[in-house]
Amino acid sequence: MRLLVTGGAGFIGSNFVRHMLTSYPEIEIVNMDVLTYAGNLENLSAFEDDERHILERRNIASEEDVESVFRSHEIDIVVNFAAESHVDRSLHIGAEAFIRTNVMGVQLLLDAARVHGVQRFVQISTDEVYGSLGPEGQFTEQTPLAPNNPYAATKAGADLLVRAAHKSHGIDSVITRCSNNFGPYQFPEKLIPLMIANALEDKPLPVYGDGMNVRDWIYVQDHCQAIDAVMRKGRTGEVYNIGSDHDVPNLEIVKQLLALLDKPDSLIQFVEDRPGHDRRYAMDSSKIRDELAWTPTLSFEDALKATVHWYLENDEWLEHVRSGAYQGYYEMLYGERGPAG
Ligand code: NAD
Ligand code: TYD
Repeated sequence: MRLLVTGGAGFIGSNFVRHMLTSYPEIEIVNMDVLTYAGNLENLSAFEDDERHILERRNIASEEDVESVFRSHEIDIVVNFAAESHVDRSLHIGAEAFIRTNVMGVQLLLDAARVHGVQRFVQISTDEVYGSLGPEGQFTEQTPLAPNNPYAATKAGADLLVRAAHKSHGIDSVITRCSNNFGPYQFPEKLIPLMIANALEDKPLPVYGDGMNVRDWIYVQDHCQAIDAVMRKGRTGEVYNIGSDHDVPNLEIVKQLLALLDKPDSLIQFVEDRPGHDRRYAMDSSKIRDELAWTPTLSFEDALKATVHWYLENDEWLEHVRSGAYQGYYEMLYGERGPAG
């Protein structure tokens, strides 16, 4: 079995590659990753000499690159993680790269999968395509798509292209929509690693707005096991929501992190809100639980502890990813951000 994993040097992709290579001795993975700021080969240094892991440093939004990868390797299944993935970048730097990778890239992969007779196409999507919830309820797979920021809009566009490829060309496809991930190797632009990194340096922890926006948090390894289950056993043409039933306000997460790191709450700084900031996400994941017998393995508390421990143990990794361009990015996004109000 040979998988094409795109974006396999990023946060979730590298955790998935690790999960697959350690769980299935017979598997081969072609890892197609252009290595943007978010792609990091250090994430997979343990598999540097593993012949089952082949890196292709190529762009999913380039027809030539996609064709070259499909021509060089006989691919059984595509698992598409490659994406521009950060909402704040889509708002403050621009949506163009998001459209290229998250929309155009997906169509090019779908076309190549069709031409080369790939058995299954797994699209890694997100709960953000559903937009925002009021105080009650959860997203189900039937919730209409209503994205509120450019990142989410491009991911919704991709989901529709995957659906169309299935309906019109009979591509065997499955889409997973997962809630907010956390865990080892997450780039410190997202809430949990950013707060850990800042707290370790006694820097302010920038909480957007009133800190009461709710996200449904899942440990990345549980997400990877869910993708594995959908890839192997999911019904063709279906969408599967993935979540851990742990929906809590951001402020609570930040306070828990400070407690685990033995740092004071006075580091919290409420800053100007994100434009179009979705108020609440919560996932109904009963479909994957009932149909595929998937369930998360760690409690949120244990997973958060394991994550903090990982960042403490991997200070060199953190130092590397925060050097260079990261500094400029941080200044641009937070330097001129006023206080909440
Ligand atoms: P990430 O930003 O950490 O990694 C993205 C990877 O894709 C990087 O390695 C990057 O180099 C690569 N990439 C970007 N553009 C590319 C291109 N044009 N060609 C080839 N490679 C390219 O992202 P992540 O957090 O690991 O997310 C992975 C996927 O999961 C994304 O599709 C995202 O939408 C989805 N998702 C993420 C979350 C989350 O909480 N992080 C939740 C649900 C779904
Ligand atoms: P993030 O990790 O960017 O994920 P997403 O936007 O995909 O949900 O943000 C998670 C939540 O944390 C979101 O409500 C925005 C908030 N947030 C902050 O309050 N401060 C920050 O510095 C960041 C990056 C996020």
